[in-house]
Amino acid sequence: MTIKACIFDLDGVLTDTAEYHFLAWKALADELGVPFTREDNEQLKGVDRMGSLHFILQKGGLSLSQHKVQQLADKKNVHYRQLIAHMTEADRFDGVTELFEQLRAHDIAIGLASSSKNAQLVLQRIGISEAFDYVADASQIKQGKPAPEIFLTVAEALNVAPAQCVGIEDSLAGLQAIIDAGMVAVGIGDKTVLSQAEKVYAHIGELEVTAILRQL
Ligand code: BG6
Ligand code: MG
Repeated sequence: MTIKACIFDLDGVLTDTAEYHFLAWKALADELGVPFTREDNEQLKGVDRMGSLHFILQKGGLSLSQHKVQQLADKKNVHYRQLIAHMTEADRFDGVTELFEQLRAHDIAIGLASSSKNAQLVLQRIGISEAFDYVADASQIKQGKPAPEIFLTVAEALNVAPAQCVGIEDSLAGLQAIIDAGMVAVGIGDKTVLSQAEKVYAHIGELEVTAILRQL
C-alpha cells in the first residue's frame, strides 16, 4: 500500500502546547487540592477539555454541580489561552517546515486531527494554518480520541483510504484512535510510553519522508 496522506495531531507534535495544557491543568488541580502528576497527564493528552476535567475531579473524589464544572473548564481555558498568547512561528517544532515540504514534494496530503478547540488559534500563531489540505478539530467531532472518528473524518475529507494514511501522535488516546482507524501509527515522545506505535521518534524533526514512504 502506498502512503498517500499524513494526519498530524497538533499539541505536542507540531509545537509544545502539550506542556501549556499540562501547566494549566496542574494549576487548576493544585487549586482544587487534587494531586496531579506528569504521569497522570499522560492519560489526559489527546483527551478533550471536559473529559480531562472529569479525570481530575474523579481523581480528587470531587462531585460538583454542572455550573461549577463549566466554570472550572472555562477557567482552565482562559489560563491556557494566556499561556499561548505569546506564541510565534519560532514555537513551531524544528523540522516541521522541512517535513511538510518533503510531503508536498512527494504528493502526500497533509491533514490535522486535533482534540483542541483552540487548534485554529495555535495554527495561526505558529504560522501553519495554510499548510493543511484538511483540518479537523474537536468542534466537529462527536466521539473524541481514543475513538477513531477524528482520524477517519480527515481521511475521508482527503479522499484517502485509512490504510494509506500515517497518523502522528504524542498521546496514548491518539495512538489508540489511529490504530482503530486502521492507519499506520507513529509516536512522538517516549518509546516506553508510546509502545503501541509502529515507530516512535523523540522529536518530529527525526521523522523523514523516506521512512513514511516505506511505511517506517
Ligand atoms: C488536546 C490536548 O490536543 O486538546 C489535550 O492533547 C487538551 O491536553 C485537548 O485537553 C482539548 O483542548 P482545548 O484547547 O479544547 O481545551
Ligand atoms: Mg497531542
